[in-house]
Amino acid sequence: MKKTLAVLTSGGDAPGMNACLRAIVRTATHVGWSVVGIKNGYRGLVEGRAIPMHLGSVGNIIQRGGTILGSSRCDEFKTAKGRAKAFEFLRSHRAEALVTLGGDGTFRGAEIFSKEFPIKVIGIPCTIDNDIWGCDASIGFDTAVNTAVSCIDKIRDTADSHGRVFVIEVMGRNTGHIALETALAVGAEFVIVPEKKVSIPQLMAKIQKGIDRGKTGSIVIVAEKDEPGRAFSISKALSKKISRDVRTAILGHLQRGGSPTCRDRNLASRMGSRAVELLVKGKSRMMVGVERDRLVVKPLGVTFGKRRSCDLKDFDLINVLSI
Ligand code: F6P
Repeated sequence: MKKTLAVLTSGGDAPGMNACLRAIVRTATHVGWSVVGIKNGYRGLVEGRAIPMHLGSVGNIIQRGGTILGSSRCDEFKTAKGRAKAFEFLRSHRAEALVTLGGDGTFRGAEIFSKEFPIKVIGIPCTIDNDIWGCDASIGFDTAVNTAVSCIDKIRDTADSHGRVFVIEVMGRNTGHIALETALAVGAEFVIVPEKKVSIPQLMAKIQKGIDRGKTGSIVIVAEKDEPGRAFSISKALSKKISRDVRTAILGHLQRGGSPTCRDRNLASRMGSRAVELLVKGKSRMMVGVERDRLVVKPLGVTFGKRRSCDLKDFDLINVLSI
């Protein structure tokens, strides 16, 4: 009898999830497995919502943002009762394996689940935050950064025209990967990330120095940290200290949508395919990651509980290049 794997997308959606689903379904079909797609992440597993997936179900989705399966953050799966319901549902589909696309919370759930029930699990890192331990690049990060860059280039035009300072907030939760990568790419005057303490006088001094040497517009990138909207208070504090108009922009969920970049599509295709190969070899509780541009396989257990911080060398570089 054909073996069956289930697949779900969980947590915040990330551009490239669809390309990854396509790779999973097509590779599984190639090796003779069938695939069932779970709707809306762990919630669909607990509530029993699934669709069969075949070659045609993943046609024309490689270029689409979001996730065709839907996603959610599900509290019920965090309970033993919820996971028992989830297992019964998988058993009713004769699924012996589960591939989960998401971030560290998704992986934590998968690890616990596979320790409680006879189900093999493989995790694929999908989050725009790029904060997963043991993985240099998660699916969605490259697209999110490119989206932020193209928005900020536009803001730079108006900042320059009016001689204004713009404080622009980007996502990334408790890490500054999106902020740093974006700040370097847009030639920002200053960047504020959770990994580095900075003060308003420091920020003010840097912006004033630029104004004194004849800069027109200035861009400050702020990582949201755990207080989305903090860019407003930073703008307010800054505007009291400098003689320029200060404006605020919050890029928000714009960064999560849109067509994945070439880099994210290909990363997603490679990771999705490798996940199926691991299951065929009987592996479980692993994450497919990438380090130094090569796919790596890590025990799922090492990937959650700590977050990958950003490299502060870029913080200094951004300061030097924007003098
Ligand atoms: O983890 C991805 C992410 O987009 C974070 O950058 C952000 O803090 C969070 O999700 C937003 O979550 P929600 O979509 O639930 O508001």
